[in-house]
Parts: sequence; C-alpha cells; structure tokens
Amino acid sequence: MQVNYHEIETLNYPVFLGDELWTKIGEFLYPYLSYSGVYILTDENVHRFCLPALVDNIPGFSDIPVYSLPASEKAKEVTALEDVWKWLINNGASRDSILVNLGGGVVSDLGGFAAATFNRGMSYINIPTSLIGQADAAIGGKTGINLLGMKNQAGLFADPAAVFIMPSFLKTVPELHIKSGWAEIIKSAALAGGGFWDKLKNLGRPDNGMLFDLIAEAVRFKCGVVAADPYDLDTRKILNFGHTVGHSLESLYLALGHDEYTHGEAVASGMICEAWISGKLTGMPENEIDQLTGLICNFFELKAVEERHYAFLSDGLKFDKKKTAHGTGYSLLENIGKPLFGKTVGQSTLLKSFNYYNSKATK
Ligand code: GLY
Repeated sequence: MQVNYHEIETLNYPVFLGDELWTKIGEFLYPYLSYSGVYILTDENVHRFCLPALVDNIPGFSDIPVYSLPASEKAKEVTALEDVWKWLINNGASRDSILVNLGGGVVSDLGGFAAATFNRGMSYINIPTSLIGQADAAIGGKTGINLLGMKNQAGLFADPAAVFIMPSFLKTVPELHIKSGWAEIIKSAALAGGGFWDKLKNLGRPDNGMLFDLIAEAVRFKCGVVAADPYDLDTRKILNFGHTVGHSLESLYLALGHDEYTHGEAVASGMICEAWISGKLTGMPENEIDQLTGLICNFFELKAVEERHYAFLSDGLKFDKKKTAHGTGYSLLENIGKPLFGKTVGQSTLLKSFNYYNSKATK
C-alpha cells in the first residue's frame, strides 16, 4: 500500500488520490479495453508530458486512440466539441465505450460534455494533470464549453465513472499553471475554515512540497459539498466564491486577447473583490478580510483593472450563470469557514470593490 493514498467514497463514484495509481486505472479500464473500447482525450502539452507515462505504465494501452486538443482555453469551443464527436465516430466508439479525460479543466469540461452527449451518453473518467483539475474541476460532474467568449455557457451535469488524482503529474506542469491552481486551494480553505484554513494560513506563501496534503483537503471538502447538493441548486453555490467577479475578469482578458491571463489569477482577484463586498454586505470582519487578502497577495501578483473596463465587467455579470430573475447571486463569506450564497450586490458596491482591489494590485 502506498503511504500517501486516499480513496474518497463520498460521491456516487470513487475518487482516488495517490502518486502511483497505474494499477487502479488499469483495473478500472481493462473491461472496456477488451470489450467496447477506451478513448483518450488530452491536449498537446499533456500528450507530450503525461501521456507517455500512462501508456508505459499500463500494459495494453499503447494502441488506444488519442485525440489532442490545443492546450488553451480557446479549445473549449463548440467547433472542438464537434471535432471530438467526429473523432469518436471515426474511431468506432459506441455508447458502451469509455472516454479518458487526461488533462486540465479544459479537457475534463469539454471531454465530459462530449462523452455525456455522444450517442446519448457514454462513460468517462477524469485523470486531472493540472492543479486546478486535481483540486477542483475534475470532481463534481460539471461539464461544458464556452460560447460568445463567455465561460461555460453550454453544458450539463454528468458524473464521471471515477476520478484518479496523481499529484506526481504536477511535476510536468509549468509553474505559472501551478500558481493558478493555488487560487482554488485558497478558496476551498477559506470556505472550509478550521484546520484546512489554519494549514494554509500558517504556510503563508506557495510551497509545492505541501501540495499533496492540501489537494487531499480540497478534494475531501469538495466531495462533501457536491454530495450535499450535486446539481448546484443550493449549498454547492458556495464554491462560486471569487468566481462571479473572477469569470467576468476572465471574459474581459479573453476579449482583450491576453492569452497568458490564468483562471487562478481571475479567481484570486475575484476573491479580493468579493471579500471586500462580504465586509459590506454580510459583516465579514475586517481582520479576516485582511488575512485573506494578505494571503492572496503573497501568492499572486495582481493585475490592476483599468477604470475604462469597469463597465465591461459589470455588464458581463448580466450573463453570469449564477444570475436568476432577481439578479446575479453572489457567494460570499460571513466569516472564514462560514460561507453563504445567493446575495444580490448593487452596482455601486461592485464598482467600489474594484477600487479596493486596485489598491491591492501590484501590476
Ligand atoms: N467549481 C465549482 C463547482 O464545481 O461547483
């Protein structure tokens, strides 16, 4: 038995966490291999850096059909989805086959959607190779694609058959992307509070040596939240903390063609705005706002938002998926470890939060 090994069974499907899960993955996929077919979806970078390990460590995997998406958020478009469906058809996939999503959030979001809609639904598993994928995106069955430059405008809930998380893959990931993933870990810790928050607070700054332990905390926390509300109708919405403003920032920089802007930076900035808003609307104490903001500033160099883009950001929120007939529902914090959701935020409060954020931004 591996020293660092977790099998999390909170959800309807198993989530395995360990550095060497080859045997587990092989055991899970062999029935499909000999019967109805295994198909691997990945991206160009993961194809180069991670696929060889999968193929070399699992006997019988060398002839599996592989499709590589471009390694970018731009791959999450409807044209790429169509290409994946066509590739599945051209390679003889059927409803009984299984798709292996080997990659980050783009691969699992698009691959999960492609699998769930192919032949009215084939199975898929996620093997996340990015930190965001491992700590968050690969778990919980949210799948989707971007439309009109806006994130995840089309998608559905479709559970993977299993998730295999190997932090050892992170050694292949550029530091920029590891950094991006820290935002989801900070978010989970702020929502969870308790020992998870204390670990991160005591860490104070990025330390990749702690990632295995923190991924395990984030995964257990996420599985618990998803189990309580799998379809995001209620309490799962707390996971959107930092993401309402964050998604709007991502859409802005996507529109401006800033390809290097990461989801993590957007969420980190979004958390600062939404922590400040929490202080105004839900009474989050100033010392906790300072603690969270200070921590985020130790992890991220934050990009100031130009005032001429404020209107784009607040307009973008009109299309946010978290909107209802009553407006966008924000997920905020009453305290560290005490989240709440469905709060409406007025235009002037939102704009003031950008000013507060800019006072913390360093670039
Ligand atoms: N990433 C947020 C959720 O899965 O609900």
